[in-house]
Amino acid sequence: MAMEKVSVLDVQKAKDDGRKLVMVTAYDYPLGLLAHEAGVDIVLVGDSLGMVVLGMEGTVGVTMEHMIHHTRAVVRGCKGPMIVGDMPFMSYNTSIHDAIVNAGRLVKHGGCEVIKLEGGVDFASTVEAIVKAGIPVMGHIGLTPQTASALGGFKIQGKDATAAKQIIDDARALEDAGVFSIILEAVPAPLGKLVAETVRIPVIGIGAGADVDGQVLVIHDVLGLFDRFVPKFVKQYANVRKIMLEALNEYKQEVMEVKFPGPEHSFKMPAEALEQLKKMMPDK
Ligand code: KIV
Repeated sequence: MAMEKVSVLDVQKAKDDGRKLVMVTAYDYPLGLLAHEAGVDIVLVGDSLGMVVLGMEGTVGVTMEHMIHHTRAVVRGCKGPMIVGDMPFMSYNTSIHDAIVNAGRLVKHGGCEVIKLEGGVDFASTVEAIVKAGIPVMGHIGLTPQTASALGGFKIQGKDATAAKQIIDDARALEDAGVFSIILEAVPAPLGKLVAETVRIPVIGIGAGADVDGQVLVIHDVLGLFDRFVPKFVKQYANVRKIMLEALNEYKQEVMEVKFPGPEHSFKMPAEALEQLKKMMPDK
């Protein structure tokens, strides 16, 4: 399916035109291809990879090597949507120098167009330096899973006025630092609306209500492929896990009952060749 690559300018135009942006995660070639075929605007190779693909408890164990490996696979299948590479924990937190080097690695070796990192006011100078180095940056504020333990767990953020004001300050600081868009996670819907109205750049929500500039979900949640936990903000559009499990059980059953493979899945051998072969076999 041919499709022009979605650019940073297209993403801004969507907000300017009042068109909602559609974003989803992907972690490998088949999911990248699916997201491409569905014609979403943006694909995030998120560090949620750690949980939904690698079986980790959280995202802090995800490394640059994991992200480069999986980003490369998504890029092979996903030609139209903009691809965002997620900077893993401690790849940008240690110094601005490390942040630029690692953002460069993700773009050069992973093949994504832009990167995403978590953090607000405290990471504005890091964002500014990466943007100055020529790499577009997407921000991520509200609930930031990499530092969820410091936030008291995977909890809704910005519930009181002071915490909400901090999130608005974070969004403003990121916009001033040069991010081209912001992910806003797990905040009350009225705060989501306020943040989207405050900044000119697109605000893409995940658990931030409907009045933001677009939505992002983890693809395993959309498809119903991950059932360890399902956050309140998730809508499962299918139960692919159930379909996969039914198929695997049927396969197992048919192998045990010698119903698979059938003649249609088996290769024939010319009768003369088989006869000849039998004659060549040593007597038992
Ligand atoms: O890693 C990820 O999947 C994310 C989304 C939840 C936005 O950061």
